[in-house]
Amino acid sequence: MHILVTGGAGYVGSATAAHFLAAGHTVTVFDSLVKGHRAAVPDGAAFVKGDLGDPAALDVLLQTTQFDAVAHFAAFIEAGESMQRPGKYFYNNVANTNNLLQAVTRYGIKRLIFSSSAGVYASKDAPLSEDDPVGPASVYGETKLMIERMLNWYNRVAGLQFAALRYFNACGAMLDSDGTPIRGEDHHPETHLIPLTLQVPLGQRDAIYIFGTDYDTPDGSCIRDYVHIEDLASAHVLALEALGNGRERMIYNLGNGRGYSVREVVDVAREVTGRDFPAIETDRRPGDAAMLIASSELINDELGWEPRFPDLHDIIQTAWTWHTARPRGYDDQPAAP
Ligand SMILES: NC(=O)c1ccc[n+]([C@@H]2O[C@H](COP(=O)([O-])OP(=O)(O)OC[C@H]3O[C@@H](n4cnc5c(N)ncnc54)[C@H](O)[C@@H]3O)[C@@H](O)[C@H]2O)c1
Repeated sequence: MHILVTGGAGYVGSATAAHFLAAGHTVTVFDSLVKGHRAAVPDGAAFVKGDLGDPAALDVLLQTTQFDAVAHFAAFIEAGESMQRPGKYFYNNVANTNNLLQAVTRYGIKRLIFSSSAGVYASKDAPLSEDDPVGPASVYGETKLMIERMLNWYNRVAGLQFAALRYFNACGAMLDSDGTPIRGEDHHPETHLIPLTLQVPLGQRDAIYIFGTDYDTPDGSCIRDYVHIEDLASAHVLALEALGNGRERMIYNLGNGRGYSVREVVDVAREVTGRDFPAIETDRRPGDAAMLIASSELINDELGWEPRFPDLHDIIQTAWTWHTARPRGYDDQPAAP
């Protein structure tokens, strides 16, 4: 299949584009580079620099190239910022997705995979399954839920088959077969716990903050579910196959099935890096749930997906390998062999 990957110069999109290529598909990445990196786009994928806010650019691409499916990653992703600048998120995530969906249906593309998020759920202190109540705590989460609803309508009205994959915390780096890091996390600004923690032993940050140590969790810090980008990527390949086999509408959680606390992340990062760096315990942040863990039973039962890298040590090891090789992310040239 020829797959259009929006946001394929970003963290999860580029890893998934590489998996699509490895599975024998043809890939065209469409990315404005507003956040992503040209160097993240895998060799073998075509690259078109363009913005989903520019329907004419989409039109030109879809007129000239026949796509069988779309994997839609392009979005702004910072929940905190979305509470300061809601319009920025409704515009880029929702309105621009509508531009994409209009173009996709106009050109007769029937299959789409969407990067949704754990942020759609009303939190609860137990593993979340797909039929648990939704109730986003941020504008960002609301944009993801709005898009899921739009997809339901495009399915009913225009026959678009879709898979919405609700990722929990994407993490880790892709290494090639000899262990060389090829693709990893490089967000600006970085807001995710594992890369922020690793910035301390890298000398880029003085300490990592632990927000809240009095939650009702075994060690008092918040628990989150970390899912490796290789595992996220492989789920997209399976979802695409399922859409090819006639599935119409799929919504699946993607998590590793168990959570790790902030203290555990810091402890394992100290172990992996061999540095006893400082962590500062401070007050809770408003809006943080004690625990956010996925049940991924549904995708396991229906598509046979299971994470290959659920272990926190492996996750942090791959991330550390990436960050030490490229401390400034994609701005660093890879070290000469
Ligand atoms: N990273 C996570 O932990 C996580 C968790 C849940 C869901 N998600 C979702 O997964 C997707 C990818 O996340 P990521 O971490 O790879 O983010 P990212 O910022 O690394 O990648 C997003 C990419 O989209 C591009 N983009 C943004 N707006 C665009 C537009 N209007 N037109 C064209 N390109 C545009 C950016 O340049 C960037 O390359 C997002 O939709 C995000 O909401 C991510």
